[in-house]
Amino acid sequence: MKHMILLSLVCSSILFTGCGDDAKKAAAEATAKTSDIAKDTVTDLQQAAADAAEATKRAAEATARLAEEKAAEAKAVAEKAAAELKERAVETTEAATELAKEVMSNSSAGEAAYAKCTGCHGKDGKTKALGKSEIIAGQPAADIEKKMAEYKAGTRDVAGMGSLMKGQVAAMSDEDIKAVSAYISAM
Ligand code: HEC
Repeated sequence: MKHMILLSLVCSSILFTGCGDDAKKAAAEATAKTSDIAKDTVTDLQQAAADAAEATKRAAEATARLAEEKAAEAKAVAEKAAAELKERAVETTEAATELAKEVMSNSSAGEAAYAKCTGCHGKDGKTKALGKSEIIAGQPAADIEKKMAEYKAGTRDVAGMGSLMKGQVAAMSDEDIKAVSAYISAM
Protein backbone atom coordinates (compact mmCIF):
# COMPACT_ATOMS: atom_id res chain seq x y z
CA MET A 1 0.00 0.00 0.00
CA LYS A 2 2.78 2.41 0.83
CA HIS A 3 4.38 1.49 -2.49
CA MET A 4 1.20 2.24 -4.34
CA ILE A 5 0.91 5.66 -2.82
CA LEU A 6 4.52 6.46 -3.53
CA LEU A 7 4.16 5.23 -7.10
CA SER A 8 1.13 7.28 -7.76
CA LEU A 9 2.82 10.27 -6.23
CA VAL A 10 5.80 9.83 -8.52
CA CYS A 11 3.49 9.29 -11.46
CA SER A 12 1.40 12.29 -10.77
CA SER A 13 4.47 14.39 -10.17
CA ILE A 14 5.85 13.22 -13.49
CA LEU A 15 2.50 13.86 -15.09
CA PHE A 16 2.28 17.21 -13.37
CA THR A 17 5.71 18.18 -14.45
CA GLY A 18 4.85 16.93 -17.92
CA CYS A 19 1.60 18.85 -17.93
CA GLY A 20 3.38 21.84 -16.58
CA ASP A 21 5.83 21.77 -19.44
CA ASP A 22 3.04 21.46 -21.97
CA ALA A 23 1.19 24.39 -20.50
CA LYS A 24 4.29 26.46 -20.44
CA LYS A 25 5.01 25.52 -24.02
CA ALA A 26 1.44 26.32 -25.02
CA ALA A 27 1.60 29.57 -23.14
CA ALA A 28 4.90 30.44 -24.75
CA GLU A 29 3.52 29.59 -28.18
CA ALA A 30 0.40 31.62 -27.50
CA THR A 31 2.53 34.49 -26.34
CA ALA A 32 4.72 34.20 -29.40
CA LYS A 33 1.66 34.06 -31.67
CA THR A 34 0.05 37.00 -29.91
CA SER A 35 3.22 39.00 -30.26
CA ASP A 36 3.44 38.00 -33.93
CA ILE A 37 -0.15 39.11 -34.50
CA ALA A 38 0.55 42.31 -32.59
CA LYS A 39 3.65 42.87 -34.69
CA ASP A 40 1.70 42.19 -37.88
CA THR A 41 -1.02 44.54 -36.74
CA VAL A 42 1.50 47.26 -36.00
CA THR A 43 3.13 46.67 -39.37
CA ASP A 44 -0.28 46.81 -41.09
CA LEU A 45 -1.17 49.99 -39.24
CA GLN A 46 2.17 51.54 -40.11
CA GLN A 47 1.65 50.56 -43.75
CA ALA A 48 -1.87 52.01 -43.71
CA ALA A 49 -0.59 55.22 -42.18
CA ALA A 50 2.18 55.40 -44.78
CA ASP A 51 -0.37 54.77 -47.56
CA ALA A 52 -2.62 57.47 -46.18
CA ALA A 53 0.29 59.90 -45.98
CA GLU A 54 1.26 59.05 -49.58
CA ALA A 55 -2.34 59.56 -50.75
CA THR A 56 -2.53 62.92 -48.96
CA LYS A 57 0.76 63.95 -50.56
CA ARG A 58 -0.51 62.92 -54.03
CA ALA A 59 -3.76 64.80 -53.49
CA ALA A 60 -1.85 67.91 -52.41
CA GLU A 61 0.39 67.61 -55.47
CA ALA A 62 -2.64 67.19 -57.75
CA THR A 63 -4.30 70.23 -56.19
CA ALA A 64 -1.12 72.26 -56.61
CA ARG A 65 -0.82 71.13 -60.27
CA LEU A 66 -4.45 72.05 -60.91
CA ALA A 67 -3.98 75.44 -59.27
CA GLU A 68 -0.87 76.00 -61.39
CA GLU A 69 -2.77 75.05 -64.56
CA LYS A 70 -5.66 77.37 -63.69
CA ALA A 71 -3.24 80.18 -62.88
CA ALA A 72 -1.48 79.64 -66.21
CA GLU A 73 -4.84 79.68 -68.01
CA ALA A 74 -5.89 82.87 -66.23
CA LYS A 75 -2.53 84.44 -67.07
CA ALA A 76 -2.91 83.50 -70.74
CA VAL A 77 -6.42 84.97 -70.84
CA ALA A 78 -5.26 88.17 -69.16
CA GLU A 79 -2.28 88.47 -71.49
CA LYS A 80 -4.52 87.97 -74.54
CA ALA A 81 -6.97 90.59 -73.31
CA ALA A 82 -4.11 93.01 -72.61
CA ALA A 83 -2.68 92.41 -76.08
CA GLU A 84 -6.08 93.01 -77.67
CA LEU A 85 -6.55 96.18 -75.66
CA LYS A 86 -3.10 97.37 -76.65
CA GLU A 87 -3.84 96.62 -80.28
CA ARG A 88 -7.14 98.47 -80.08
CA ALA A 89 -5.46 101.42 -78.35
CA VAL A 90 -2.90 101.55 -81.15
CA GLU A 91 -5.68 101.36 -83.75
CA THR A 92 -7.65 104.08 -81.99
CA THR A 93 -4.59 106.28 -81.74
CA GLU A 94 -3.84 105.75 -85.41
CA ALA A 95 -7.45 106.49 -86.35
CA ALA A 96 -7.44 109.61 -84.20
CA THR A 97 -4.15 110.78 -85.73
CA GLU A 98 -5.54 110.11 -89.19
CA LEU A 99 -8.73 111.99 -88.37
CA ALA A 100 -6.80 114.90 -86.90
CA LYS A 101 -4.63 115.04 -90.03
CA GLU A 102 -7.70 114.94 -92.22
CA VAL A 103 -9.47 117.66 -90.24
CA MET A 104 -6.34 119.82 -90.33
CA SER A 105 -5.75 119.33 -94.04
CA ASN A 106 -9.46 119.88 -94.69
CA SER A 107 -9.57 123.11 -92.77
CA SER A 108 -6.34 124.39 -94.26
CA ALA A 109 -7.45 123.23 -97.72
CA GLY A 110 -10.81 124.90 -97.05
CA GLU A 111 -9.12 128.09 -95.94
CA ALA A 112 -6.88 128.06 -99.02
CA ALA A 113 -9.83 127.41 -101.32
CA TYR A 114 -11.83 130.23 -99.74
CA ALA A 115 -9.09 132.78 -100.50
CA LYS A 116 -10.57 133.53 -103.94
CA CYS A 117 -14.13 133.92 -102.51
CA THR A 118 -13.32 136.70 -100.05
CA GLY A 119 -13.53 139.48 -102.66
CA CYS A 120 -17.32 138.98 -102.97
CA HIS A 121 -18.42 137.02 -99.84
CA GLY A 122 -16.13 138.84 -97.40
CA LYS A 123 -13.25 137.52 -95.25
CA ASP A 124 -15.77 136.36 -92.66
CA GLY A 125 -18.32 135.10 -95.23
CA LYS A 126 -20.90 137.59 -93.98
CA THR A 127 -21.04 139.85 -97.04
CA LYS A 128 -23.88 139.50 -99.56
CA ALA A 129 -21.85 138.88 -102.71
CA LEU A 130 -22.42 141.82 -105.10
CA GLY A 131 -25.39 142.63 -102.92
CA LYS A 132 -27.18 139.63 -104.44
CA SER A 133 -26.30 136.43 -102.56
CA GLU A 134 -27.34 135.06 -99.21
CA ILE A 135 -24.85 135.27 -96.35
CA ILE A 136 -22.93 132.01 -96.59
CA ALA A 137 -21.08 131.96 -93.24
CA GLY A 138 -22.53 129.43 -90.80
CA GLN A 139 -24.80 127.65 -93.29
CA PRO A 140 -24.82 123.87 -92.84
CA ALA A 141 -21.83 122.37 -94.71
CA ALA A 142 -24.07 119.92 -96.56
CA ASP A 143 -26.23 122.80 -97.87
CA ILE A 144 -23.21 124.81 -99.07
CA GLU A 145 -21.77 121.69 -100.70
CA LYS A 146 -25.06 121.01 -102.51
CA LYS A 147 -25.42 124.60 -103.73
CA MET A 148 -21.85 124.67 -105.02
CA ALA A 149 -22.34 121.37 -106.80
CA GLU A 150 -25.45 122.83 -108.43
CA TYR A 151 -23.53 125.96 -109.54
CA LYS A 152 -20.82 123.67 -110.97
CA ALA A 153 -23.47 121.68 -112.86
CA GLY A 154 -25.10 124.92 -114.02
CA THR A 155 -28.44 124.08 -112.45
CA ARG A 156 -28.53 126.81 -109.78
CA ASP A 157 -29.31 130.48 -110.40
CA VAL A 158 -30.97 132.42 -107.58
CA ALA A 159 -30.32 136.08 -108.45
CA GLY A 160 -29.29 135.78 -112.08
CA MET A 161 -25.66 135.30 -111.07
CA GLY A 162 -25.56 131.52 -111.29
CA SER A 163 -23.20 131.54 -114.26
CA LEU A 164 -20.84 133.84 -112.37
CA MET A 165 -20.74 131.34 -109.51
CA LYS A 166 -20.37 128.51 -112.04
CA GLY A 167 -17.12 130.12 -113.16
CA GLN A 168 -15.94 130.28 -109.55
CA VAL A 169 -16.63 126.64 -108.86
CA ALA A 170 -15.80 125.12 -112.28
CA ALA A 171 -12.18 124.23 -111.52
CA MET A 172 -12.86 122.98 -108.00
CA SER A 173 -12.71 119.26 -107.23
CA ASP A 174 -15.30 117.51 -105.02
CA GLU A 175 -12.70 117.48 -102.22
CA ASP A 176 -12.11 121.25 -102.59
CA ILE A 177 -15.88 121.88 -102.47
CA LYS A 178 -16.23 119.66 -99.41
CA ALA A 179 -13.31 121.37 -97.65
CA VAL A 180 -14.42 124.93 -98.43
CA SER A 181 -18.02 124.11 -97.42
CA ALA A 182 -16.82 122.84 -94.03
CA TYR A 183 -14.68 125.96 -93.64
CA ILE A 184 -17.53 128.37 -94.48
CA SER A 185 -19.95 126.46 -92.25
CA ALA A 186 -17.58 126.81 -89.30
CA MET A 187 -17.28 130.63 -89.72
C1 HEC B 1 -17.29 137.64 -108.12
C2 HEC B 1 -18.01 137.51 -106.96
C3 HEC B 1 -18.09 136.11 -106.31
C4 HEC B 1 -17.07 135.31 -106.03
C5 HEC B 1 -15.56 135.52 -106.20
C6 HEC B 1 -17.65 134.15 -105.41
N1 HEC B 1 -19.00 134.25 -105.35
FE1 HEC B 1 -20.28 132.94 -104.50
N2 HEC B 1 -21.81 134.04 -105.08
C7 HEC B 1 -21.75 135.23 -105.78
C8 HEC B 1 -23.08 135.65 -106.20
C9 HEC B 1 -23.42 136.88 -106.92
C10 HEC B 1 -23.95 134.66 -105.74
C11 HEC B 1 -25.47 134.54 -105.99
C12 HEC B 1 -25.60 133.62 -107.24
C13 HEC B 1 -27.01 133.29 -107.66
O1 HEC B 1 -27.62 134.17 -108.31
O2 HEC B 1 -27.44 132.17 -107.41
C14 HEC B 1 -23.15 133.73 -105.05
C15 HEC B 1 -23.65 132.60 -104.37
C16 HEC B 1 -22.92 131.74 -103.63
C17 HEC B 1 -23.47 130.73 -102.81
C18 HEC B 1 -24.96 130.43 -102.59
C19 HEC B 1 -25.47 131.23 -101.39
C20 HEC B 1 -26.94 130.85 -101.10
O3 HEC B 1 -27.18 130.52 -99.95
O4 HEC B 1 -27.76 130.92 -102.01
C21 HEC B 1 -22.43 130.07 -102.29
C22 HEC B 1 -22.50 128.90 -101.34
C23 HEC B 1 -21.25 130.70 -102.74
N3 HEC B 1 -21.57 131.73 -103.58
C24 HEC B 1 -19.94 130.30 -102.44
C25 HEC B 1 -18.84 130.83 -103.03
C26 HEC B 1 -17.52 130.30 -102.81
C27 HEC B 1 -17.20 129.13 -101.92
C28 HEC B 1 -16.69 131.03 -103.52
C29 HEC B 1 -15.22 130.86 -103.67
C30 HEC B 1 -14.76 129.58 -104.14
C31 HEC B 1 -17.47 132.06 -104.15
N4 HEC B 1 -18.77 131.88 -103.84
C32 HEC B 1 -16.92 133.03 -104.92
C33 HEC B 1 -20.57 135.92 -106.01
C34 HEC B 1 -19.30 135.45 -105.90
